[in-house]
Amino acid sequence: MVHNGIIENYDELKAELQADGHEFTSDTDTEVVPHLIEDAMAAGHDFEAAFRAAVSRLEGSYALAAVTADAEAILATRRDSPLVVGVGDDAAYLASDVPAFLEFTDRVVYLEDGEFARLESGSWTVTDDEGLLLEKSVSRVEWDAEETAKSGYDHYMLKEIHEQPRSLRQCLRDRVDELTGSVDVEALEGLSPKSVQFVACGTSYHAACYGAHALREAGVPSQAFLASEYATAPAPVSEETLVVGITQSGETADTLAALRQAERRGVETLAMTNVVGSTAARECDRTLFIRAGPEIGVAATKTFSSQVVACNLLSAAIAERSDAREVVGALRDLPGQVQELLDESHAEAVADRFLDSDGYFFIGREYHHPVALEGALKMKEITYKHAEGFPAGELKHGPLALVTEETPVFAVVTGDGETAQKTIGNVKEVEARDAPVVAVTDGVSEVGRYAEEVLEIPETHPRVAPMLANVQLQLVAYYVAKKLGRSIDKPRNLAKSVTVE
Ligand code: F6R
Repeated sequence: MVHNGIIENYDELKAELQADGHEFTSDTDTEVVPHLIEDAMAAGHDFEAAFRAAVSRLEGSYALAAVTADAEAILATRRDSPLVVGVGDDAAYLASDVPAFLEFTDRVVYLEDGEFARLESGSWTVTDDEGLLLEKSVSRVEWDAEETAKSGYDHYMLKEIHEQPRSLRQCLRDRVDELTGSVDVEALEGLSPKSVQFVACGTSYHAACYGAHALREAGVPSQAFLASEYATAPAPVSEETLVVGITQSGETADTLAALRQAERRGVETLAMTNVVGSTAARECDRTLFIRAGPEIGVAATKTFSSQVVACNLLSAAIAERSDAREVVGALRDLPGQVQELLDESHAEAVADRFLDSDGYFFIGREYHHPVALEGALKMKEITYKHAEGFPAGELKHGPLALVTEETPVFAVVTGDGETAQKTIGNVKEVEARDAPVVAVTDGVSEVGRYAEEVLEIPETHPRVAPMLANVQLQLVAYYVAKKLGRSIDKPRNLAKSVTVE
């Protein structure tokens, strides 16, 4: 039995099964399923009927696959948890995500909730919950196997950081008109909401913060919500609200719950996702694919920068801006600038210097605020060290108490406008407390004067600079984790797709 998800009524089922003499050998919720199957087989059902009978007793979310020692088939089903069938020439595959079998086939059948798959060597069938045969279409995914190999890099995360020039180009391809600064994305045609609410989790939430800021700046009321909060405490909507779910995997349970919440209230929904065929892509009214290619490392890297580019496309489609042409020009130059940064970054030396620090702080204002949040998240999830990101102005409202000479502060500052000057004021505050400052900055800002280390980024439009700054912070987190010997691609306690609420 393989199970992804949570069987919510397992206590009850376990008590019932134990009362009937079943002996459990683990504390997992999963174990009730094979006992239920055993029970039904003992009552005379064949394996498939027993599997269906067992599944009919379950409450919760699950992708399940079952096999017996002498069975010729693998049986599988799903509810609120992803499950896909890979169709090979002489084999069939089962996984919760396509990259798992991409090495063997690029043909995929997406299972819906309540459908049952039966896999035998070289053949597969899908039936509904009553056993009726369904005609499922086979989709071909555009990703290729090479994209899912490490290609000489020590870790997928490093490979994916280095793939950003390419993934950003893919995200933009055929979607922007450099002459007019307009965007041409089918999914966004005719979109004219009066307000936008973003729902997302983790890294995707940071992209959502960026997107909401971009729309607000263009005069469209817009907010980013953590999906897990929005699912139970949604914000008021009107008929002209658009709810955008940003989700790399398209399978994050919290984000799906928030989007379903929006759908129930009758508002238009848009999924911004990386995975064609994912649940979010299938359930939302519109879909904007970020085209980052498969991301294997648990820590999101290239998908974040593509999400931020996609937020620019979305914002341009919804609201007219006087600087549209400059932004499009800067986006066009972005992949090349990321490459330049990757070639020249000395993030590894910075990582070396601050390896033993007690903790790390990340500050930035406005468009750099999401980068500060993301820099801290990357650092904590792969190094297991304490890291906090916040808007620079918040520093003196509490976190400053934690700032010491053992806590480097990464300050993201670009340009020389009022916002940059204010952040520099905050940098001086931490410097006065002897905290080492690492400035992530362009050649314009004078923040470097107050910093012990400078991670430079090429000069660009203020809306594009955060993506470059973020690449420097990805590299710092990566090298700190590497030097500490962490499990970078699979950090402890984390999963690539979080399919339970
Ligand atoms: C962090 C990370 C997570 C995900 C979050 C949402 O590196 O990967 O925080 O961003 O679990 O996942 P998606 O975007 O698939 O909805």
